[in-house]
Amino acid sequence: MRVLVTGAAGFIGSTTAELLLAEGHEVVALDSLISGRVENVPVKATFVEGDCGDGELVRSLGSFDACVHFAARIEPGESMKYPEVFFANNVASTFRLLDALVESGVERFVFSSSCAVYGDQVEMPIDESRSIQPHSPYGQSKRMVEEGLHWLVACGRLRAAVLRYFNAAGGTLAHPERHRPEIHLIPIALDVAAGRRSHLDIYGDDYPTPDGTCIRDYIHVSDLAAAHVLAISALDVHPELILNLGSGVGYSNRQIAETVQRVTGVDFEVRYTERRPGDPAAAIASNERARELLGWQLQRSDLEVIVSDAWAAHQSL
Ligand SMILES: NC(=O)c1ccc[n+]([C@@H]2O[C@H](COP(=O)([O-])OP(=O)(O)OC[C@H]3O[C@@H](n4cnc5c(N)ncnc54)[C@H](O)[C@@H]3O)[C@@H](O)[C@H]2O)c1
Repeated sequence: MRVLVTGAAGFIGSTTAELLLAEGHEVVALDSLISGRVENVPVKATFVEGDCGDGELVRSLGSFDACVHFAARIEPGESMKYPEVFFANNVASTFRLLDALVESGVERFVFSSSCAVYGDQVEMPIDESRSIQPHSPYGQSKRMVEEGLHWLVACGRLRAAVLRYFNAAGGTLAHPERHRPEIHLIPIALDVAAGRRSHLDIYGDDYPTPDGTCIRDYIHVSDLAAAHVLAISALDVHPELILNLGSGVGYSNRQIAETVQRVTGVDFEVRYTERRPGDPAAAIASNERARELLGWQLQRSDLEVIVSDAWAAHQSL
């Protein structure tokens, strides 16, 4: 297959592009580099620097069997300050991309959505039938694309898989987790262990959870990448897929800090500070539907493996 991967200079996009290439597919990697790094793009991919919303550029790339669309701004906190930037980049650019892709006959589209569309849910685990109630313009931007995609499928314009990731983590030696800016707990904790930061801040220890800190579901980026490749094929059978991608297990922020301390052997300082507005107490996926419809099996999403892989990858930074 010839596959267009947008956001392929980022963490999850580069890992998925690598897997597609390893499975014998041709990859065109499109990235504006607003937050990604060109050295993340797999060497065997054809790299095109540009905005995925540049319809003329996308049309000039020829036809594709599938597009996997990772390109987005990803920081919920920033989206509360600059919502217009998030809607322009994540929503308007996506629909211009879709316009160009449909015109050139692309039939399969895989979209990086997020558990942020669920907002603050009380009952865990969260399955795909839950109410959609994003708490930030970032989550809203994912919801708007999801809703538009539904209409493109309903009107027979293409087949679409909406993949709602929980917390991507881990990393590979070739593609370590390294966001700009970094907002994720595990790489920040690893930075502290490596002496690049003085201490680890954990926001809130008075949540209604067993140890008072927030609980999250971490999914290894290699398992996420595998789900994308399976989703492209599954679209031949299912014209529309909406799937949670998570491990189905929750860990508290305190447990993450302790695991990073154990794996790295560094007993760094952890400071418990005020809650951050908008952080739900818990987010744990039900991943049954993805396992059933994709035949997806988790290989590396055990927390010790995630942190060990992330630490090994972190050494290459
Ligand atoms: N990392 C997570 O835990 C997580 C969780 C849920 C959903 N997601 C979604 O997964 C996707 C990938 O996330 P990531 O962690 O790899 O982020 P990332 O920042 O590492 O990668 C995003 C890439 O998209 C590129 N990009 C952004 N806007 C673009 C545009 N308009 N045109 C072309 N390129 C553009 C950036 O330069 C970057 O390389 C995003 O859509 C994100 O919302 C990530």
